[in-house]
Amino acid sequence: MTDNTLIAPASSQGNHRETISVIPGDGIGPEVVAEGLKVLKAVVGDDYDFEFHKLGADRWKATGEVLPDSELEELRQTRAIILGAVGAAPGDKTMPSGILERGLLLKIRFAFDQYINLRPSKLYPGVHTPLADWVVERGPVDFVVVREGTEGLYAGNGGRFRKGTHHEVATEVSLNTAYGVERVVRDAFERAQRRRNKVTLVHKHNVLVNAGGLWNETFNRIAAEFPNVETDYLHIDAATIMLVQDPQRFDVIVTDNLFGDILTDEAGAVTGGIGLSASANINGTGEFPSMFEPVHGSAPDIAGKHIADPRATILSMAMLLDHLGRPEDAKRIEKAVDDDIAKHGMEQRHTEQVGDAIASAV
Ligand code: IPM
Ligand code: MN
Repeated sequence: MTDNTLIAPASSQGNHRETISVIPGDGIGPEVVAEGLKVLKAVVGDDYDFEFHKLGADRWKATGEVLPDSELEELRQTRAIILGAVGAAPGDKTMPSGILERGLLLKIRFAFDQYINLRPSKLYPGVHTPLADWVVERGPVDFVVVREGTEGLYAGNGGRFRKGTHHEVATEVSLNTAYGVERVVRDAFERAQRRRNKVTLVHKHNVLVNAGGLWNETFNRIAAEFPNVETDYLHIDAATIMLVQDPQRFDVIVTDNLFGDILTDEAGAVTGGIGLSASANINGTGEFPSMFEPVHGSAPDIAGKHIADPRATILSMAMLLDHLGRPEDAKRIEKAVDDDIAKHGMEQRHTEQVGDAIASAV
């Protein structure tokens, strides 16, 4: 198994509490992060110090390092983490698949017990969507996926045996703990109470009877504590259809790590593209820093062209402020992005231009 050991919680007395770590990363990461920080600073002034970490494909290629423990410890001592995107181009043979994913992104999510991977989706007026007119006419699309972030098929519970022979065996076992499922399901219900009071569980309990059984039973048990919250269940395959044909049925979706990964890419696509999809990896107890990142990747093909849409990162800054207990400041950013989308839609603008416009509007 991968070493997912939790490291000791940060002391609340630490003198680095008001520092935010920034990992601009690769490709368009640094470009969108610069705009995110521009908008964030326009709202919070100099309330926070920022500590930059050069991590990602370039660092690995130059030094062979992914995320040294000493640097993980530095991240741990800060209040929150902002991540742009990491990863080399898909065809880049010099960067083997999995190194950065497991060694950097998932290492942070696991080490800091970021069990709530929060991914909101909203269809803004004026945004191009592949949804059919008859679907859009039904009403606003506004839901959030609460994706489990530390377990499931991502846990690294597997191995390859008799490698390279005809008898090779490869396993990848989904790990689901009662504790892990309960805490994320509970978060979904609490979140629904602050929204439109509906939670949909997405799984595949007709086939994955073990993991699905635990999720389903936990969901029903927690649901009983929230009698005012409507519940719904969809198998993952049906959920992918509903997201396209009836996205208005969703308020809060709760699901496991891999189903959530897939569903949130689809959610981004149906609501105007992942250029607008923000996300938060939250440690719900506050023992460790949470991490805020756009859902999109490093897009090396457009890096340096200054055409990346920074609005997903900017919206992630709103999620960060919400998490830091500044909901009014978060709303200022959301409102400025709403207005920017209303005015400019998906018009092609320079990355900096978008950041400047939103920063001056907050
Ligand atoms: C995401 C990404 C990651 C994931 C990868 C890069 C490890 O696809 O944040 O959705 O699968 O969680
Ligand atoms: Mn993904």
